[in-house]
Amino acid sequence: MEQALEQLHEEALGALEHVSDKDQLEAFRIKYLGRNGLIGSLMRQLVSIAADDRPRLGKRANEVKNDLETRFSDKQQSVSTSVRPPASAGPDLSLPGRKPVPGKLHPVTQIMEEICSIFESMGFSIAEGPDIELDHYNFAALNIPEHHPARDMHDTFYINDAVLLRTHTSPMQARIMEKQQPPLRVIAPGKVYRCDSDITHTPMFHQVEGFLVDKNVSFADLKGVLTVFIRKVFEKELALRFRPSFFPFTEPSAEVDISCVICGGKGCRVCKQTGWMEILGSGMIDPEVFKMVDYDPEVYSGFAFGLGIERIAMLKYGIDDIRLYYENDLRFLSQF
Ligand code: DAH
Repeated sequence: MEQALEQLHEEALGALEHVSDKDQLEAFRIKYLGRNGLIGSLMRQLVSIAADDRPRLGKRANEVKNDLETRFSDKQQSVSTSVRPPASAGPDLSLPGRKPVPGKLHPVTQIMEEICSIFESMGFSIAEGPDIELDHYNFAALNIPEHHPARDMHDTFYINDAVLLRTHTSPMQARIMEKQQPPLRVIAPGKVYRCDSDITHTPMFHQVEGFLVDKNVSFADLKGVLTVFIRKVFEKELALRFRPSFFPFTEPSAEVDISCVICGGKGCRVCKQTGWMEILGSGMIDPEVFKMVDYDPEVYSGFAFGLGIERIAMLKYGIDDIRLYYENDLRFLSQF
């Protein structure tokens, strides 16, 4: 009996060595460890041996059984991990997939769409014009004739004497008024170009031009529309301040400041301790501009404004370097 037990142990260990897949493993289990397996039937025979030998042999039989069971479960592990194909066999289709990261709109595009939808909700329609513009629309039609000193401020990229990259979106005023009759409420978003580059200027940036022409339009209408707009974009009850200024195509003209979005008007580094931030240019459309498109300035009046989109986004999100928008660094872009 004792000999048979040791023989069986040895035989089983040898057999387990040769097991290399799940089917063989299961066959091994049934043959040796199963309910009707060889170990079990040997143990059942213990009852028929001499009572003196029984405890010793019983103990040994249990040892053999436990040994085989542990080795069996080790083998089970190595067989189940080795079913993966080796790396050379191509991709492992059983691995979980990697989700593609969805793309997003550029922050400038997001703000531009937001600005447009705020004005659309106030009845403005959207118009787009060419980036490559005639000198006539960019300057002359806006009451900036040749040799006018205001041209200097624009750092214009000229293509030839009559053609340039538009330096602002204001030419859309002239383009639209020349084709359509009042009443008009228009928003014109788009790219503009100036030969200028530092932490607050890029050679290409975005503006939104807005204008409204009708009978009896007053400066109060301009203030009302801009106040609603500013509070919606910044989602805050900000104060507005109109400062007298000059633009050749508006009279009177005003630059608009808002109470600092960072400190709320108390004064901080961003607003240079003034409590105010400059946000846009605006004014009542100059009668000279109306005359060039054959509108009667005695009948019609209107207001116009122009704002930089990058600047609005910088103030809204506390971005201190405009160049970040155009460096395509995903660590920056993915925050929006
Ligand atoms: N076009 C001006 C610029 O780029 C901004 C501007 C100022 C637009 C006053 C306007 C306005 O319509 O009324 O600096």
